[in-house]
Amino acid sequence: MADLTGQLAFVTGGGHGLGRAMAIGLARQGAEVLVASRRPGPLLEVVQEIEAAGGRAAAFPADLTDLEAVREISRQITERYGALDILVLSAGGGRFLSIEETSPEEAAAIMASRYLSAFYVIRLLIGPMLKRNRGRIVIIGSSFAWLHSFNVAYKAAAHALFGLAQSLETDLYDTNLQVLYVEPPPIRPLTTFFVHNPGTAQRLPAFYWRFTWTADQLVARVLAAMASGRSYVSHPLVRLLRPLYPLMAGPLLWFSRRQFPSPADGGPISGWRQSAAETASDGAPAEAEPALSSLGEPSGR
Ligand SMILES: NC(=O)c1ccc[n+]([C@@H]2O[C@H](COP(=O)([O-])OP(=O)(O)OC[C@H]3O[C@@H](n4cnc5c(N)ncnc54)[C@H](OP(=O)(O)O)[C@@H]3O)[C@@H](O)[C@H]2O)c1
Repeated sequence: MADLTGQLAFVTGGGHGLGRAMAIGLARQGAEVLVASRRPGPLLEVVQEIEAAGGRAAAFPADLTDLEAVREISRQITERYGALDILVLSAGGGRFLSIEETSPEEAAAIMASRYLSAFYVIRLLIGPMLKRNRGRIVIIGSSFAWLHSFNVAYKAAAHALFGLAQSLETDLYDTNLQVLYVEPPPIRPLTTFFVHNPGTAQRLPAFYWRFTWTADQLVARVLAAMASGRSYVSHPLVRLLRPLYPLMAGPLLWFSRRQFPSPADGGPISGWRQSAAETASDGAPAEAEPALSSLGEPSGR
């Protein structure tokens, strides 16, 4: 894996889950790491963990869907640190909901937390990277762009991120800036993603739980891809299913529908719809989040 000593990384969503794992992984390779997400507490914990291990880090608490907040962070980073070497976009999330469960406000919040935050951050921080003509942009998407589930807004945001990555790659073709698009499968042990997006673990078709990575495996794959200059990291299952989809859309949908939990496991689907509609969310973080341990692991998979 590459030695990142002397490199400066900025990680969105760095307070939790994959962003946190990426921040710590980059710091272990020698990078100085700046982390951003809304709640200051988890960000400071990450900074302390990196510093306790001898690394360098700083926290930038902000709502990255707020353009003015991103402008301010960009100004501070550029003035204090100069150009970034590595930019990791991992902020955001979204519940897995069907169309009638998804309020227009929640759809906008999901798209903003995933796609717009990534766009704003790249747009406002890429200038110095382009000027220096060096750097790496890592976009954390989702394998659920390609796998069936009830997630009309989350899936659309994942496709938006894929489009952003592919378009950026075209855009940056003649530069020394590289784009790495990452499509994680479900992460196990469960990350805080499943706390922040309640009900989601119950909505993954059973067989997807056989194709999980740990957060550490994800980080190792991303670091290896960065070292070898690859532009795409995904689970082999997704790489297999993606080309099959246009040829076998009907059979794949039929197979996926059979994989959803039975009524005994928390179905039927109409029951989920009711419970999700009752807990509509506007995307704002809860003041106090439930402990990850309160979720338990998905059963029977
Ligand atoms: N975990 C998985 O199994 C998995 C699998 C495939 C894909 N993914 C994708 O990878 C992404 C990261 O997953 P994760 O497991 O790290 O999720 P997570 O544990 O929920 O972390 C998401 C991070 O984004 C931050 N965030 C959310 N909205 C934000 C906003 N508006 N501005 C700034 N920061 C914001 C959150 O902190 P605050 O709430 O404090 O802002 C948190 O630090 C997810 O969006 C998901 O689509 C995850």
